[in-house]
Amino acid sequence: MLKMAVFVSGGGTNLQSLIDATKSGSINGEIVLVVSNRKNAYGLERAKKAGIQAECIKDDQLLIQRLKEEGVDFIVLAGYLAILSDELTTLYHNKIINIHPSLIPSFCGPGFYGIHVHEHAFARGVKVSGATVHFVSPVVDGGPIILQEALDVSSAKSPEDIQQMVLTIEHRILPEAVKLFCDGRLKVENERVEIL
Ligand code: GRF
Repeated sequence: MLKMAVFVSGGGTNLQSLIDATKSGSINGEIVLVVSNRKNAYGLERAKKAGIQAECIKDDQLLIQRLKEEGVDFIVLAGYLAILSDELTTLYHNKIINIHPSLIPSFCGPGFYGIHVHEHAFARGVKVSGATVHFVSPVVDGGPIILQEALDVSSAKSPEDIQQMVLTIEHRILPEAVKLFCDGRLKVENERVEIL
């Protein structure tokens, strides 16, 4: 079973979807550590309630040390609002999975995080939005795409409405992508992901 660390900065509903999927046995992997750059992140509480080690770590070297100590095979960024060091992204090349709340390459890159993504999408009046799960590369939101799903958001009356709609997709495709990774079914070639 592969060992994963999940990084969170906020409420951690995506973390919860991973906790539920690992506990139910639908993912052949185990969450051994939850990390946050914010000590008050509710995601840390969710982890503790599930009996998972949860730590607030801000220092890069300490972070890498803890990942090594816990034997972490891969990392999932589930609403993590800090930039990873080059050392970490190199160490875990194509082993860091991120969830982004838009259809990349729309509404992504520096400054497009959390509710800001949906504010831009709402202001632009998009009729369709969605979520993307991708591997992390040094380019923000630029790594190989694993899964995407779109949905009709034409009935949304606010950015928060789009956020809620997109979250329902996130909670489905993030565990699905992690399951594929744990089953060894993701092959990266020429910056494209093939699902085996
Ligand atoms: C999600 O929309 C995720 O895509 C984005 O940040 C949000 C985190 O939500 N990166 P939660 O903390 O998982 O509830």
